[in-house]
Amino acid sequence: MADVAEAVKRNNIQSPKPNAPQLIDNHGRVVSYVRLSVTDRCNLRCVYCMPEQMKFMPQEELLSFDELFRLMKILSSMGISKVRITGGEPFMRDGLTDFLWQLKTLENIEEINITTNGVLTKKHIPELKRIGIASVNLSLDTLDRERFKHVTRRDELVAVMDTFYALLRHNIAVKINAVVTDGFNTDDIVPLADLTKSYPVSVRFIEEMPFNGVGADRQVLTWNYKKILSALFAAYPTMKKLDDEPFSTSMNYTIDGHYGSVGVIAAYSRTFCGTCNRIRLTPKGKLHTCLYSNEGLDLKHLLRQGATDDEIERDIRQTVSSRYKDGFDAEANRFGHLPVSESMSTIGG
Ligand code: GTP
Ligand code: 5AD
Ligand code: SF4
Repeated sequence: MADVAEAVKRNNIQSPKPNAPQLIDNHGRVVSYVRLSVTDRCNLRCVYCMPEQMKFMPQEELLSFDELFRLMKILSSMGISKVRITGGEPFMRDGLTDFLWQLKTLENIEEINITTNGVLTKKHIPELKRIGIASVNLSLDTLDRERFKHVTRRDELVAVMDTFYALLRHNIAVKINAVVTDGFNTDDIVPLADLTKSYPVSVRFIEEMPFNGVGADRQVLTWNYKKILSALFAAYPTMKKLDDEPFSTSMNYTIDGHYGSVGVIAAYSRTFCGTCNRIRLTPKGKLHTCLYSNEGLDLKHLLRQGATDDEIERDIRQTVSSRYKDGFDAEANRFGHLPVSESMSTIGG
């Protein structure tokens, strides 16, 4: 086990309480960020995420918000200070904003963030502002209505753009997530990056991962982060590297005269595993220590079998102490040697 004090210092982490037992993995990485997937349901059908015919899980299989809150109390006492709510589409779940208010009462939680597709989000924005949501990551792969329909199989671009403008008006930090999908939106890289000319937004281009609910249909990723960066440099030759935030998944750049910034997320090339500070909870209540791992701690089972907080904490610590060193290691050791094929909506991205 690595030395906790040394790792906390190296990872630039403030311990939530003096001498609190900060969650730390077997590779000396501080774990301070949890991604909570609150539903697998979605009102879009993005081609890189799920097939048109998708079977969602019955409501009773999801963790209830009370169960999630109990877990968050335990996790926040272990040094988790950042939460990101994901889905599926989080706003497909009733009662989400009440849950966010509850999360807000946890004193060790410093930021609550949401990743959303923006279709149902607009009406919740004033409340998100009151809650103090730190940032919203908005999935948006194209600004062209026809191509939006092609990528998401739904005609919802107008609603998503309304959400984007409303977030800006409410002064909520916005990052745009665009998955670069060969044959679908590679011509959209520059138009999307151009949003940064007029708006203070971070536009991040993401390598496509094989989490599409059907399995990989491409053997090789053609649009890797290097190719995406080449396309950006071709359009903006004076683009300059920014210092990335600690634990950033994205490599970020500034463009002369633009308010916002652009970034690339090497999600498939997995360049950021060495500083990975995150764990994730699936909608079914399984704790995964890596996106690429199909093993996890069944927290729903523990909760529903009457486990005490101490027992849950012990099992979480044990799971985090046997983490794979990176996404390649996790992939190579997948249970049953099953290739990656699950929909991102069942893991939470
Ligand atoms: P910030 O909190 O703003 O840094 O957001 P984020 O990048 O952590 O989260 P977001 O939900 O916006 O995800 C952006 C992309 O990063 C998505 O395609 C995710 O699937 C991918 N991603 C998130 N976490 C991981 C991870 O642990 N490993 C890999 N390989 N990709 C990830
Ligand atoms: N590859 C990369 N990113 C994906 N996302 C969903 N599916 C994939 C995939 N196969 C993204 C969504 C969302 C984030 C949580 O994950 O666009 O922004
Ligand atoms: Fe829905 Fe997000 Fe998956 Fe698209 S990527 S289908 S918006 S869960």
